[in-house]
Amino acid sequence: MKIGIIGLGTVGYGVVEILTEQKERLEKTIGEEVVIKYGCSLDDMDLPEGIIYTADYKDIINDDEVDTVVELIGGTTIAKTIILEALKRGKNVVTANKALIAHDGQEIFKVAALNNAKIYYEAAVGGGIPVVAPAKENLIANEIKKIEGILNGTTNFILTLMETDNLDFDEALTIADGLGFVEADASLDLDGIDAAHKIQILAMNAFEVFFDYKKIQATGIRKVTKLDMDYAKALGYRIKLIAQAKKLENGIGIDVSPTLIGTKDIVANVNQAYNVVEISCNYLENVIFYGKGAGRYVTASAVVSDIMKTHEQAVWSHDYNETDAIYPITFSRYYVRCDQPLDIDYDTYYSQGKDHIYITNEIEYSELEEQLKGYTTNLFKVRG
Ligand SMILES: NC(=O)c1ccc[n+]([C@@H]2O[C@H](COP(=O)([O-])OP(=O)(O)OC[C@H]3O[C@@H](n4cnc5c(N)ncnc54)[C@H](OP(=O)(O)O)[C@@H]3O)[C@@H](O)[C@H]2O)c1
Repeated sequence: MKIGIIGLGTVGYGVVEILTEQKERLEKTIGEEVVIKYGCSLDDMDLPEGIIYTADYKDIINDDEVDTVVELIGGTTIAKTIILEALKRGKNVVTANKALIAHDGQEIFKVAALNNAKIYYEAAVGGGIPVVAPAKENLIANEIKKIEGILNGTTNFILTLMETDNLDFDEALTIADGLGFVEADASLDLDGIDAAHKIQILAMNAFEVFFDYKKIQATGIRKVTKLDMDYAKALGYRIKLIAQAKKLENGIGIDVSPTLIGTKDIVANVNQAYNVVEISCNYLENVIFYGKGAGRYVTASAVVSDIMKTHEQAVWSHDYNETDAIYPITFSRYYVRCDQPLDIDYDTYYSQGKDHIYITNEIEYSELEEQLKGYTTNLFKVRG
């Protein structure tokens, strides 16, 4: 196996290190030499002996000896060009690029199939936690009914800080940013877009349909206040940014939204920058994957396992039917906070100072919205 790694930043350099450190064991496992022939980044890099440095990715694409291209640049422009060019040359591709797979996965899979090349992207969701392969391969005997979880470590870190350190959103965001946890485009994290990319990828693999991730109704955490967290706590809940997807009779229910979860629920106890994915299916019932969703070695670990997977003979199909039947999941219980008493159907009521807090019974969002017309409220979903 001769590999070209394009992008030698946080994840890319981690892949170089792991492949170098684990070379002997990996070669023994797959029964073939594992050689990194090229490392490519814009700035010159010190690379382990034997690896050719290049600033021009075309050196890798044009080299017939390279059979596996690892794209770790990110973004949806040059990364897409590189992946398509590599696949058209019949090279296998491994990437961690969630934005690109969520945007252009269908086109990429088609080019891969046409050229009998493999494309793997386990690291795109959940960093090092295996979740894409379980959804697609390991649970193949099952009908997957629902996937949900905490898919964005940055927002989970911020929500955890708000709760444990009694901080408001802006204070917690400043700390997360200072630690380098927030993407250059903060909206990807804070507005639920990154989580939408990831739940799209999981839903695509679990339900075997492709759809534009922009159809996913994504609400981030900007409206979650310390006050709401305190009230949620008083009622026995925590607020988490939950991405969920489930099979409906007429399509796929899928969305990203701040959600109250009972404190006894495992998902409510996933804190800091950790991720969790819970898959509900018919035979295995419930299975939960938990671990670190980002970081150099964490993510590189998944990339390396995908590189090894390209060695297998089997080509898993990515032949997905396109669908437009994508809806937010609006039938839910809701947490409603209002500075006036409300005439709504509720399960739990609590009041403190001027605030009236309700946990509603299950209700269609449009119906609740109608009942709340004229009131200023803060409103989140309640899980279960
Ligand atoms: N970081 C994580 O924990 C994590 C977790 C899951 C998934 N991911 C995904 O992994 C991918 C890589 O992320 P990262 O955090 O490693 O990014 P990063 O640290 O910003 O590294 C990007 C690398 O790409 C290189 N690059 C940029 N444009 C290039 C070009 N035209 N030709 C060649 N090289 C180019 C950069 O080179 P220079 O430095 O020389 O500019 C740099 O080495 C992204 O898709 C990201 O979403 C990351």
